[in-house]
Amino acid sequence: MKRSARVRSLRGSATLAVTARAKALRAEGRDVIGFGAGEPDFDTPDFVKQAAVDSLHAGHTKYAPTPGTTDLREAIAKRMREHNRIDCKAEHVVVTVGAKHAAYEVMQCLVDPGDEVVIITPAWLSYRPMIELAGGIVVECAAPIKQGFKTNPDALRAAMTDRTVAVIVNSPCNPTGVCYSRDELTALAMVIAEHPTATLISDEIYEDLVYAEISTDAVAFSPGSIPELAERTVTLNGLSKSMAMTGWRIGWAVAPGDGGEVAKAMTRLQSQMTSGIATFLMPAAAKAVEHQSETSGAMRSVFVARARLVSELLGEIDRFKTVPPSGAFYAFPDISSCFGLVSPAGRRIDSAATFAEAILEEKEVAVVPGEDFGEIARDHIRLSFACNEDQIRAGLGRISDWVGSLS
Ligand SMILES: Cc1ncc(COP(=O)(O)O)c(C=O)c1O
Repeated sequence: MKRSARVRSLRGSATLAVTARAKALRAEGRDVIGFGAGEPDFDTPDFVKQAAVDSLHAGHTKYAPTPGTTDLREAIAKRMREHNRIDCKAEHVVVTVGAKHAAYEVMQCLVDPGDEVVIITPAWLSYRPMIELAGGIVVECAAPIKQGFKTNPDALRAAMTDRTVAVIVNSPCNPTGVCYSRDELTALAMVIAEHPTATLISDEIYEDLVYAEISTDAVAFSPGSIPELAERTVTLNGLSKSMAMTGWRIGWAVAPGDGGEVAKAMTRLQSQMTSGIATFLMPAAAKAVEHQSETSGAMRSVFVARARLVSELLGEIDRFKTVPPSGAFYAFPDISSCFGLVSPAGRRIDSAATFAEAILEEKEVAVVPGEDFGEIARDHIRLSFACNEDQIRAGLGRISDWVGSLS
């Protein structure tokens, strides 16, 4: 059967592939420690579950408005105004099937074939395929480990051209766990402001998971609140990470600029694609948004302790170089000093992919290889510390032993 060129060249998500492989090995009875999945190990808070059950019993089982119910969009806009200082109204909010869907729709709405979109790499591995599916050209602005995984205004300016239609900023960052400070984000935003046709896409899905105890740069700050950029910023967010609601698939974009034209375009696109999210979830989502800050606070403190533990244990592996994570739940060590070595089972390690494959088979530890996070990320693996401290100790113990046994 014929397949389009579009899908012939499309790679599936490496993160989801590692997670699926770890699950399959566990189903075979193997004791896999998973550092692959990008999802909190906590359960969704009971009050949110209850709200969804009540909503079902109240009969919310029919189609709802495509961009979300007014109540939910109002709740999101209120949080965006009060918490994120973004001047917006409910009509600027589009509720989507997770923030991933919001990002996909934004690319479809902003990018024409040949347009350039700048991503700051290492970057979330779904940005590239989304940009390319819209016909866009990905420009990687490298933020190497020696710069603490951060770019700067000069490097961003150099990456932008008159064909740049958007720049994606993601702080805290997946896969590095690094946060930009308010000043750093503002300086980057001002470079984008110099290009009158460029949009800033600010992916803030990890905004509640910032660890000021670890780095003073770790703040939740929305560039969409900067007056010069307010009209040209699309902010992405959702409930997956902050509220442990990955499986609910609830995200959103807030696009107040241009009289809400981007939000309207997204709504038209979505009306031909998925329609709205499941209707009975919307009242529960509104409740979750109303209590997002205080609920995510409890999970945040657990992640701070884990981030410290991961940094400490990674720091003890001589062959790894690391930047301590100060946000999200990822560490992204450079493992390139293992390249050229051979594992106890005779596997030659010459890339992050071969490292990840070998350690899963030989030590039953699941990590995500860096290649899909950008050119600069090829020497890295991503470890997600969305698992408890015992698993972190056991998993990093296995990694340390195995890396020490390479010869
Ligand atoms: C940076 C980033 N943005 C967006 C998403 C999408 O989140 P979801 O679609 O689960 O809301 C993820 C999920 O891994 C992410 O890491």
